[in-house]
Amino acid sequence: KSLLEEIPNLSAKTAEEAEALRIKYLGKKGEITALFSSFKEVANEDKKEFGKILNILKNQATEKIKELKEGAANQKASGEKPDLTRPVFPQLGSRHPVSIVKNEIIEIFSYLGFSISEGPEIEDDWHNFTALNFPEEHPARDMQDTFFLDEEHALRTHTSSVQVRVMESEKPPIRTISPGRVYRNEAISARSHCVFHQIEGLYIDEGVSFADLKQTLLYFAKEFFGKTKIRLRPSYFPFTEPSAEMDVYWGLENEIDYRITKGTGWLEVLGCGMVDPNVLENAKIDSEKYTGFAFGMGIERIAMQRFGINDIRTLFENDLRFLNQFQSTL
Ligand code: PHE
Repeated sequence: KSLLEEIPNLSAKTAEEAEALRIKYLGKKGEITALFSSFKEVANEDKKEFGKILNILKNQATEKIKELKEGAANQKASGEKPDLTRPVFPQLGSRHPVSIVKNEIIEIFSYLGFSISEGPEIEDDWHNFTALNFPEEHPARDMQDTFFLDEEHALRTHTSSVQVRVMESEKPPIRTISPGRVYRNEAISARSHCVFHQIEGLYIDEGVSFADLKQTLLYFAKEFFGKTKIRLRPSYFPFTEPSAEMDVYWGLENEIDYRITKGTGWLEVLGCGMVDPNVLENAKIDSEKYTGFAFGMGIERIAMQRFGINDIRTLFENDLRFLNQFQSTL
């Protein structure tokens, strides 16, 4: 009975003191533990009452000591003031290689007066295909390449959709580049992914010619790759006519160059061409008065070439051991 009054008044300044109390009352040879052992000596008619008190006592003591321990821990924590003079070495993040390359390309074209424009990743059939002069039965509309969402919508397969949006909302002269994420229903491998990034360029004004396109691309090749020799190979895109693919001459000087260009000396960099008059008309731009060029390139492929990355998947895994290597490359 005296213990019942004693327990609630216990106090402890430190966790060690609280532990000492636990041993005193609840330890193997503790006072309350001893009472439990004497249970069998209690007369039968008193057993019920005795047991009840014993349990209350035990619970009370357990609770009280827990409280004391917590109190001591809190006091310890608040007693330790932080040392404000301690030097800190924060873990800095690094820019993603795709962002590094994207920013560099944006910077080069902004010197030439190109603005940046963006568009939605969920795109309608008009902006991704029809306005860009894709015939109804064009294979790129096939389920093989496009992630369709419903009859009318798909994940955009290229950033050319943004060209259309800009032409619809702005009047020439137009000079813009559109970086963004695109999606294709392709098997994932070391060389290709179903998600990647492109940068699209568009220039529309009176009297824009193929020579302007070539000159602009040559400037880009010099600035970005530090290479002065390019070639334009005839190609086909529904939205440009004529169309071409630009290769940069790598010059076979060492083994790395040889591996990048697979031995030919030419590295394929982008697709381009003169905007097809149909595309201008679809966006309500007078194709008699205005002409324009467009180009588009995959950012991952250029980043892989720039940094010697041989598996595109590493760009999407966000493995810090990989990403931290770009710490010093702003
Ligand atoms: N949209 C084309 C592609 O995804 C690239 C391109 C853009 C070609 C602009 C010509 C003009 O491959």
